[in-house]
Amino acid sequence: MRKPIIAGNWKMFKLIGDSVDTAIELRQLVTDVSHCEIIIGPVATALNAVAERMSGSNIRVAAQNCSTETEHGAHTGELCCDMLKDAGADSVIIGHSERRQFYGETDASVNQKTKAAISFGLDAIVCVGESLEQRESGQAQSVVGGQLENGLRGLTVSDMERIIVAYEPVWAIGTGKTATPEQAQEMHAYIRKVLSGAHGSEVADGVRILYGGSVKPANVSDLMANDDIDGALVGGASLEASSFAQIVKYR
Ligand code: 13P
Repeated sequence: MRKPIIAGNWKMFKLIGDSVDTAIELRQLVTDVSHCEIIIGPVATALNAVAERMSGSNIRVAAQNCSTETEHGAHTGELCCDMLKDAGADSVIIGHSERRQFYGETDASVNQKTKAAISFGLDAIVCVGESLEQRESGQAQSVVGGQLENGLRGLTVSDMERIIVAYEPVWAIGTGKTATPEQAQEMHAYIRKVLSGAHGSEVADGVRILYGGSVKPANVSDLMANDDIDGALVGGASLEASSFAQIVKYR
């Protein structure tokens, strides 16, 4: 009943031309895919060009960040959610660990951005995940639980329909070190429990929870075989259309 989602986060890679070329190649490779939703997240400067080429396809386009602000104004360098929507995005990645680690993103800003995205009708892909130190000191669940409770605080049942959670253990991102399917499933089940406590079991049953962290064509099916893993958020292996298409076709 939860339709899987395979999403690619292109991070700060690719100029416009390369972004468009990759997206068009991907579109051709996945034309007949209907078992999952497919999302790609190009850099902001390429959003519009990519979105125009994906129009009428089975590929959705996501932004990688948005402003906390919902009114246009004097906020140099920021992009309001209606601008992202105007450029062709239908969703936005919020609170990626790289933004939390290097750009001062907090649970409070994640909460504001998530509400901003929902208010403009964008789906919010809200990222959570613990560091290696936090996992090794037994804090993984409390860290992730706190990120979820604070990041999604105040959302209504209908708001929650726009939420996609991405569990990305920081120690598995770009390291080639994937969480084992058991580790991922255990955390995903815990995430669903936290969502159930905060928003009710019906909401929790409907939320797609994606795993991210060194997902590759070789490990995606073992991850996807687990009940609470509803998809993947892919970094490095999403940059090439062929490897991302293999991940999309994990079945
Ligand atoms: P990698 O797939 O490169 O580990 O990146 C994961 C990620 O951060 C996706 O948002």
